[in-house]
Amino acid sequence: MIISSAGDFRAAAQRRLPPFLFHYIDGGANAESTLRRNVEDLADVTLRQLVLRNMTDLSLETRLFGETLSLPVALAPVGLTGMYARRGEVGAARAADRKGIPFTMSTVSVCPIEEVAPALRRPMWFQLYVLKDRGFMRNALERAAAAGCSTLVFTVDMPVPGARYRDAHSGMSGPRSALRRYWQAVNHPGWAWDVGLRGRPHDLGNVSAYLGKPTGLEDYIGWLGANFDPSISWKDLEWIREFWRGPMVIKGILDPEDARDAVRFGADGIVVSNHGGRQLDGVMSSARALPAIADAVKGDIKILADSGVRSGLDVVRMLALGADAAMLGRAYIYALATAGEQGVAQLLDLVEKEIRVAMTLTGAKSVSDISAELLARE
Ligand code: FNR
Repeated sequence: MIISSAGDFRAAAQRRLPPFLFHYIDGGANAESTLRRNVEDLADVTLRQLVLRNMTDLSLETRLFGETLSLPVALAPVGLTGMYARRGEVGAARAADRKGIPFTMSTVSVCPIEEVAPALRRPMWFQLYVLKDRGFMRNALERAAAAGCSTLVFTVDMPVPGARYRDAHSGMSGPRSALRRYWQAVNHPGWAWDVGLRGRPHDLGNVSAYLGKPTGLEDYIGWLGANFDPSISWKDLEWIREFWRGPMVIKGILDPEDARDAVRFGADGIVVSNHGGRQLDGVMSSARALPAIADAVKGDIKILADSGVRSGLDVVRMLALGADAAMLGRAYIYALATAGEQGVAQLLDLVEKEIRVAMTLTGAKSVSDISAELLARE
């Protein structure tokens, strides 16, 4: 199959993965209207076409939190990445590393921090959820710092898990899910062999390291379900400050009011995000929320944006709407599930090419040239 886009990777991933995993990645909350709008609203962003500007020398580099990125892109944290391909976090992180962009490890990764960080040349970023078990949070922060992680991405839009209907239908959650997943795995022997299901059982690296025992998918679902903490408030961020000295980014901001609070708190960055439409269905897409947030805080804090980014063109659109960089979520996960590290590397090459094309045709010679000036005024 010829792969020329994230959409092609998505189709290939659907064939390769057992349905419970494909739908876990692909699905969103409730009727999935925000999930759809994330992609549609981004596609509706209309750029100006500006020509005859001698665009031979483009620079795609940008600086974020003291690091130089070869592209204004980072890989977003995605839980259970090591279930989509063998040692999936290592593969995705190495592809990002080779490209010169950051990989963000999820709290709920399969490979532990200590396995992934040493496999990279540049420091990785670490994502933390607020969990009732503050001992886990503290332990994870200490381990991330010891492994040299540079930036903390603190995700705040998961005080409760969203209502994900597809997971109940597919066997990811709900009645007799363990049995249903087992049968799906048996029917996807290529995937089961690749992720090592036959030999080593799934072990959730960061959780196991803390609990001191192997943990599988059932433990993960139970542990995480019991650990989401609706009491989260700005006080928790103050508490985290005591254990984290590096840059801190707050992920899951969708309103200018919260963005201003993040600046007041002294955060280094925010991620404008609705968690890829997996949390509160019906909220604004990131593309629609972004301009007002940028108006409120641009220049005071670094703005990253995700939810709906499927191409390099979408990256440029997010930057034109006010972001300093974009994060890829599902787009790289589909690539990882299709072809492991090589798949992610191929996707990042495609994204880079598409950014180049969009910059060339909008007259933007550097990342800082990509601004609201590039939006078409109709
Ligand atoms: C996520 N996301 C996420 N975010 C986070 O902070 N910690 C996590 O563990 C996860 N896990 C996770 C699993 C899966 C399967 C998906 C698809 C997403 C959200 C992720 O970081 C990002 O915000 C979205 O993926 C962006 O939306 P798109 O671009 O994937 O549509």
